Amino acid sequence: MNGVSKLGLAALCSLAVVSVGRAQSGPANPEAQAQAAVKLRKAVFDVQSYAYLPMGAFLKGAPFDATAAETAAQRIQMTSSMIPDVFKFDTRKFHIMTRALDGIWTNQADFNQKAKDLHDAAVNLESAAKSGDADATKQAAIAVGKACGACHDEFRSK
Ligand code: HEC
Repeated sequence: MNGVSKLGLAALCSLAVVSVGRAQSGPANPEAQAQAAVKLRKAVFDVQSYAYLPMGAFLKGAPFDATAAETAAQRIQMTSSMIPDVFKFDTRKFHIMTRALDGIWTNQADFNQKAKDLHDAAVNLESAAKSGDADATKQAAIAVGKACGACHDEFRSK
């Protein structure tokens, strides 16, 4: 291969990299980006809610399962740590189906603190589950549920 065609190939390759990059960063139009942001954050909450299910069952009388509680706690730590990230995109000016209230973006520090409170509650739940103490795990699971509710009361519409 001569020098010129090598250069041409290099140029083609870098073009391909640029267009792949664009495709991965999602749709360029703001309306579509807002739709994607709402879809993503709802998906995080769906997963989070799924992670909490065994704890809901336990609080309703299902037998204590320390391993299931530990897994739930770890999953909720992961999803709660994503909440501030998935709300970075301010969707207030878009006409979109969402229950997110404006306070999320006008009072972001409080919103992020509520996400951190949930994370801390999930860390406590993991310790309680690891101790094998059913009562302590019950109290910790209730505290996690309260951390969900505290944020919904302030930042999610009915
Ligand atoms: C820091 C705030 C915050 C915390 C903590 C939080 N949520 Fe939410 N949650 C929201 C907001 C805001 C929405 C609305 C999202 C939207 O409609 O765009 C929501 C929506 C949801 C939804 C509906 C998702 C959908 O598909 O529309 C579920 C289910 C949910 N949350 C469950 C939970 C559970 C379970 C917990 C605790 C383990 C929790 N959330 C903790 C703020 C929070």
